[in-house]
Amino acid sequence: DGVVRIALIGCGTVGSQVVRLLTEHGEDWAARSGAQLELVGIAVRDAAAERDPWVPRELLTEDVSGLIERTDVVVELIGGIEPARTLVLEALRGGRTVVTGNKALLAAHGPEVHAAVESGDADLYYEAAVAGAIPVVYGLRESLAGDNVVTVAGIVNGTTNYILDEMTMRGLSFDDALAQAQQLGYAEADPSSDIDGHDAAAKAAILASLAFHTRVGIDDVPVTGIRDVTVEDVTQARENGYVMKLLAVARRTPRRGRPAGIAVRVHPALVPETHPLAAVHGPFNAVVVEAESAGRLMFYGQGAGGVPTASAVLSDIVAAAGHAIRGGHAPRESTYAQLPLLGPEAT
Ligand code: NDP
Ligand code: HSE
Repeated sequence: DGVVRIALIGCGTVGSQVVRLLTEHGEDWAARSGAQLELVGIAVRDAAAERDPWVPRELLTEDVSGLIERTDVVVELIGGIEPARTLVLEALRGGRTVVTGNKALLAAHGPEVHAAVESGDADLYYEAAVAGAIPVVYGLRESLAGDNVVTVAGIVNGTTNYILDEMTMRGLSFDDALAQAQQLGYAEADPSSDIDGHDAAAKAAILASLAFHTRVGIDDVPVTGIRDVTVEDVTQARENGYVMKLLAVARRTPRRGRPAGIAVRVHPALVPETHPLAAVHGPFNAVVVEAESAGRLMFYGQGAGGVPTASAVLSDIVAAAGHAIRGGHAPRESTYAQLPLLGPEAT
């Protein structure tokens, strides 16, 4: 009938903006995907809670499984491991395509989730899981499928970049800057995953998996966060010509020379103020990719926040709906490379 039925699970910072964009621009998405996108329901924890004015109250439900059963595409935007893991697996195993922004889930349970995709007929899209609006998942999964990536490195957490930037540029205390990042919708529900580097580590694991055609999990990524960084630290760095940034680095060692392997790491670093990453301010992210033939590419844009992230979710929804109507699949991920993981010194 040309209709693709969508279940939205989660209507918080990102989910609510997805509802707005689906509602306001439905004709555009229909024209681009060839499908009528019907938002069948919105599952939340508390259906009685106050919502943004554009959220249709009659679509709200607390019965997540019941909603999934009535749909073709499930958009998971609740975050965290459970119940997201169970719901995503339930949807995939039931033949439903899943769109998610949940890097924590993918980095902790990637093999299980991808196995559910590979053994069935459903697809998985997760552009929003890494670097908000920036199409870096697409870039690695599709644009660079004909190249060999050597390095993926950059700023992949908007909250910590915002905090370090506010401390550096405005002298704000760590706690005040964090409170602002939370208020602006950049931080995770538990912001310790941002400031302790675990959110960046999850993204680094996903990027390394895509870049090097293997599976890297969050436990493979040594991580140091920014919890102990003070205004004095960033001020002193500035006086010496450096800017402090939380970097995620994933590197494949050369084929010749050192033994081939990959190293992934997240840590605060002093970036020379003339380096392009030093100019990445606020909640923006930037990912530098080096590939054998393409050379150096830089992906830059808004890495956190409801509206930019909703853009990435919508692009996945349009792609998923197009495949649902016209046939075809999202590209299957190749994980043929069994590269050993090297220690952090190799980054
Ligand atoms: P929020 O905390 O703002 O929203 C979470 C939503 O999920 C809420 O609507 C909540 O319901 C609902 N929810 C939570 N638990 C359940 C449950 N058990 N059953 C049904 N609904 C539930 O999160 P965000 O929108 O910020 O993030 C969502 C996802 O997107 C996360 O995976 C996050 O990592 C990712 N992401 C977030 C970005 C950002 O900038 N915020 C950027 C990129 C990715 P209720 O409203 O009733 O509490
Ligand atoms: N909390 C995350 C960040 C959201 O600050 O980058 C985007 O993934």
